[in-house]
Amino acid sequence: MLEKGMKQYMNKEIEEQKEYIKKVERLNAGKSLKYTIITMGCQLNENDSEKISGMAENMGYIRTDKLENANLVIFNTCCVRENAEERLFGKVGELKNLKEKNNMIIAVGGCMMQEKNMAEKIKKSYPQVDLIFGTHTLHKLPEDIYNILENRKKIQDILDIDGEVYEGLPIVRDSKVQASITIMYGCNNFCSYCIVPYVRGRERSRRPADIIEEAKEVAKQGYKEIMLLGQNVNSYLRNEMELIKEGKLVDKDGDYKEIDSFAKLLRELDKIEGIERIRFISPHPKDFTDDVIEAIRDCDKICKFVHLPLQSGSTNMLKIMNRRYTKEDYLNLVEKMRKMIPDIKFSTDIIVGFAGETEEDFEETLDVVKKVGFEQVFMFIYSRRVGTPGDKMQNQIPEDIKHKRFDRLKKLVEEQIAEKSKEIVDTMQKVLVEGFSKGNEEMLTGRTESNKVVVFKGDENLINTIVELEIVENHLWYFVGKVV
Ligand code: 5AD
Ligand code: SF4
Repeated sequence: MLEKGMKQYMNKEIEEQKEYIKKVERLNAGKSLKYTIITMGCQLNENDSEKISGMAENMGYIRTDKLENANLVIFNTCCVRENAEERLFGKVGELKNLKEKNNMIIAVGGCMMQEKNMAEKIKKSYPQVDLIFGTHTLHKLPEDIYNILENRKKIQDILDIDGEVYEGLPIVRDSKVQASITIMYGCNNFCSYCIVPYVRGRERSRRPADIIEEAKEVAKQGYKEIMLLGQNVNSYLRNEMELIKEGKLVDKDGDYKEIDSFAKLLRELDKIEGIERIRFISPHPKDFTDDVIEAIRDCDKICKFVHLPLQSGSTNMLKIMNRRYTKEDYLNLVEKMRKMIPDIKFSTDIIVGFAGETEEDFEETLDVVKKVGFEQVFMFIYSRRVGTPGDKMQNQIPEDIKHKRFDRLKKLVEEQIAEKSKEIVDTMQKVLVEGFSKGNEEMLTGRTESNKVVVFKGDENLINTIVELEIVENHLWYFVGKVV
């Protein structure tokens, strides 16, 4: 019999970990031990945490949201922006007294642990931490926990080289409606502000067959929406294809015969019965090739809503950021996509106050925001990350100017979103129903294709189906819909 969320196929390393899962389960038997995970950062980290949950539950731990009840606490950290460190240290500090009471194991893992000197810092200042693991050793959690339980020894398990792509880890998903599927790991882009390439390593794509199998499995489990994840999804398989061309990788099993690009992967996933919506984050504008646009246009299930990180609207800043596109390239891409797919909508990420950003540069960003009219803008104040080129640049922007610019951008975005939200009132929208509304238990809640929250009165059995609703009220951050 398959254990909870456990897949049948797996590579050798995972088979070994499965043995450790059984060993830990035996050690924990009859103890009703509980675990909790504190996840920081992006959806890739959330997906990693779902795998941590999968391992923890197979090891016999039961989930709790209450830190004070947990016997195993796992921090899955992020380091993309600042503040994360203080938050982590504060939380780990709080556990000092609880540790003995619950015979608690404290594990700290994820991106921040791949940063230089971070593991040392934790070891020195927080002796209550039992395990420090990195992004490339997540799958070894069962072995590490086993060794802690057996030997009560502290463990540091961090790899500096890129980890392999492991298949077959058990997974317990957070959502019953949307299933996240990581399709690739790492990033090769080295945007000059970003720490991700240093902590997540080089791009490695999962085999198409493994992704398709996972998608089919979640469809069988009843999921209607899949979210494909990667730091740069539209360079999916690019590395592998280069290696094949150079003769450094031999496709002896024909893994890439049918599917050798992101566009082809999308087309294949679109055929899976049961899946009704496909989303993906994040693509890079420089890699947004026509075949991907055509796939979005041709495939009914792919949401006509694309997250297209802009970062800055100034060609000058984009060069300094090492983004490898200009303001015009970005606007042309948006225009081309709108021509090919008239109802397409966009969301974006913008960084304000990167080193050297002048008033004129910032206004270029405002100009792109005005021209594109995004549905959603994730706005960030530039935060210096040690080890990145951006941190070494001399002309850093004073905090007060960064904040003022941020507020100006926010104001513009809010005005635009207020205008845009009027447009969808009185229209019909397809809503994937997620469950009862948290604010009002009598209402159901769901999301439109462009990620807008809609609440409405409806029968419980509409949950996890797509319903067509008339939008009757606009509350800016959510809408009220009506079954007609
Ligand atoms: N400072 C601020 N924002 C950043 N991002 C990445 N690195 C930084 C940084 N150092 C933002 C980018 C990216 C998003 C995930 O986080 O906008 O797209
Ligand atoms: Fe960071 Fe740029 Fe890679 Fe995104 S594409 S993860 S912003 S380096």
